[in-house]
Amino acid sequence: MSSLPNKKLFIQTMGCAMNEKDSENMIAELCIKDNYILTATLEDADLIILNTCSVREKPVSKLFSLLGEINKQKKQKAKIGVCGCTASHLSSEIIKRAPYVDFVLGARHVSKITQAIKTKGFVDVDIDYDETAYQFGSFETQTYKRKINISIGCDKSCTFCIVPNTRGSEISIPKELILQEISKAVDGGVLEVLLLGQNVNNYGKTFSNKNSKSSFVELLRDISKIKKLKRIRFASPHPLHMDDEFIDEFVTNDKICKNIHIPLQSGSSKVLKDMRRGYTKEWFMNRCQKIRELSKDVRISTDIIVGFPTESQKDFDDTIDVIKKVKFDQIFNFKYSSRPNTQAEHFSSIVSKEQASSRLEQVIELHKTQIDEKMPSNINKTYKVLFEQKKENGNFIGFSDNGYQIEVQNEKDILGEILDVNITNFHRTYLEGKII
Ligand code: SAH
Ligand code: F3S
Repeated sequence: MSSLPNKKLFIQTMGCAMNEKDSENMIAELCIKDNYILTATLEDADLIILNTCSVREKPVSKLFSLLGEINKQKKQKAKIGVCGCTASHLSSEIIKRAPYVDFVLGARHVSKITQAIKTKGFVDVDIDYDETAYQFGSFETQTYKRKINISIGCDKSCTFCIVPNTRGSEISIPKELILQEISKAVDGGVLEVLLLGQNVNNYGKTFSNKNSKSSFVELLRDISKIKKLKRIRFASPHPLHMDDEFIDEFVTNDKICKNIHIPLQSGSSKVLKDMRRGYTKEWFMNRCQKIRELSKDVRISTDIIVGFPTESQKDFDDTIDVIKKVKFDQIFNFKYSSRPNTQAEHFSSIVSKEQASSRLEQVIELHKTQIDEKMPSNINKTYKVLFEQKKENGNFIGFSDNGYQIEVQNEKDILGEILDVNITNFHRTYLEGKII
């Protein structure tokens, strides 16, 4: 046991699940190798890390005002580090604009965190760096669930997206390492894993270790052989790679949760071409239809960008048409935001700011109406729920296999159990029920 007093780490994470996982990895490194403990109070921290996102412009422009605030509030000797995608994208520019920042560490480099904190002015944002064989310590944010990276980077070139510039090209993590990590997590009580990658169903195209071989479907089959593991989720599959083999595995493998995120981006085949997404409106709808036919209670979520530079009214009508037909269970809507070093940055736009805002509003309103129509149909259905949280009022909260948040009252402690729940009441964002 170390006799040194603990140092305190404050970490703020923006953006996606992958950033959350990167933060967990950095916390594990710092706690295991450098005697840190987490604090939720910035003023107490000896080290402050911002793990940033650069997918849209707004969070990037907020970064410098946030850094200014932190610099005022922090303990005098506390170090500040900027990590993640904006670190990759702005690199040493960050220290130029905010000289009190101690280090900048790109999204592909989180394993170097213990090195970064030692050197004032450390900047490392190389996107060729291979992190796939790196085995991090584990920092558990949730008792029953664990995020597992299966690939890093992205090989696509969607014309709107900055991610390939910040996270580099796609490399799959060797299957043996993934299976090892999951087995270890399961031995520690984890029941559900969330497999992470920019395009999970492209898994296996490129490994850094030339001896590795596996497709995503094979990976899913092997993971599901881990006995004590109950549930598998993944985010996100790319619509282009959703072939029949993948869909069959998704619907027939009982351990795979029937909740799938399929990023549409646009419902117009023309805009999809301008975005270089590689699929058409018809292909996307066909994939969703096939999944809905084969899996009764499946829930489908999506990402939609409105106001892409070439989006005409007719193109937007196509997006509305897809929403009406697919009836997504959840939509993450974004107004197009021009990003540096992307192809679409140079497209001239036919969409005014007002049009983009109005289209966003229309998507939100339509989706709300659809959800209000759909939620009552859950009454009297039975869902398998993994209970993972107890509220202050004593109620238990869990998630169904298909991703609904479900709340129940129960005398006995049911945390960590998967139980059948009969739905008795609905709200827009969650359901209530009774254990049967
Ligand atoms: N392949 C990843 C996507 C990462 S970016 C995945 O699905 O896991 C997450 C989402 O941000 C994208 O699906 C897209 O809808 C949105 N997005 C990306 N770049 C954008 C931009 N320039 N403007 C607005 N939204 C954007
Ligand atoms: Fe971005 Fe397209 Fe990859 S949205 S992360 S370039 S699949």
